[in-house]
Amino acid sequence: MPERSRVAILISGRGSNMAALIYASRAPDCSYEVALVTGDNPDAPGLDLAEAEAVPIVRIPGPILKNKIQYFSALQQVLDDHSIDLIALAGFMRILPTDFVGRWSGRILNIHPSLLPRYKGLGTHEAALAAGDKWTGASVHLVTNELDSGEVLGQVQVAVLPGDDPTSLAERVLIAEHQLYPRVLAQYAARPFDSGWIEAQVDALARELPEVGRKSSHGSPGWSVGGEKGKLFAIIADHHHGEEAVGLLVKSSGADEMSGLIEAQPDVYYWPKYYGASGWLGIKLNRRDVDWEQVGEWLQRSWELAAPRRLLEAGGR
Ligand code: GRF
Repeated sequence: MPERSRVAILISGRGSNMAALIYASRAPDCSYEVALVTGDNPDAPGLDLAEAEAVPIVRIPGPILKNKIQYFSALQQVLDDHSIDLIALAGFMRILPTDFVGRWSGRILNIHPSLLPRYKGLGTHEAALAAGDKWTGASVHLVTNELDSGEVLGQVQVAVLPGDDPTSLAERVLIAEHQLYPRVLAQYAARPFDSGWIEAQVDALARELPEVGRKSSHGSPGWSVGGEKGKLFAIIADHHHGEEAVGLLVKSSGADEMSGLIEAQPDVYYWPKYYGASGWLGIKLNRRDVDWEQVGEWLQRSWELAAPRRLLEAGGR
């Protein structure tokens, strides 16, 4: 199993979702660990609970909280100090500044007590009851700069019962939240290491290029250009012959380029067994910080090296 993702949970209040995330993380096969609990309220009851559970907490002091710029720079520092990979908002009542969200893009999750896109913002249970909905629920989503609008990663439905009021409904939805959040966070934390997910990302990027088809190479998934008899330009080597990497193999200009890249960025590039000798460069993709734009550029370059001349001329390449 890859190293667990280090999660920071941000709370403002009682922290029942925080507790659910902490207890789920104690399963030996959980893909994340709670490396920090903090928030914008040094007296939040959830912080006392996390402390009692021996989870590292940071109480950011009152005077800093009053100044938005100071608060978010203190928070960034605390997150850096704890080497955080992912942030889970759990009843955190502050709107995050644009630059903070940008820096953590794709790495902040939130739980919201409605079936998004229905009922963003506060008062979700009142809204569901007023609309006469038979079902409501909870959603875990990625945080973007638009309130409660990032990609939904998971949802759970909860029935609205006759006689429900906002409090009774909130209580039942909360039970569902406690089931949903740990499951979705664990899946999301494991995703960068999942070969199937990695292959789907590469497939989507490869298919943006002209005349690309699938073709395997000695049983490994690959992509070719130029129809039936087309040439391979990308291969996924999934722990190939005992290698650690789930790697993308692309055509390089040769051994010199490969050695230079591997020496400069050994976390990113490697010399793949067997394939390296014929100019295939390995790019490690089972990492948390893959630059997918750069992967796209490598695919394009490799495509250009393999494409028949008519395609290069057609595209003015
Ligand atoms: C939950 O209802 C959650 O959906 C919302 O805020 C509430 C937090 O409750 N974002 P708790 O602090 O986790 O108990």
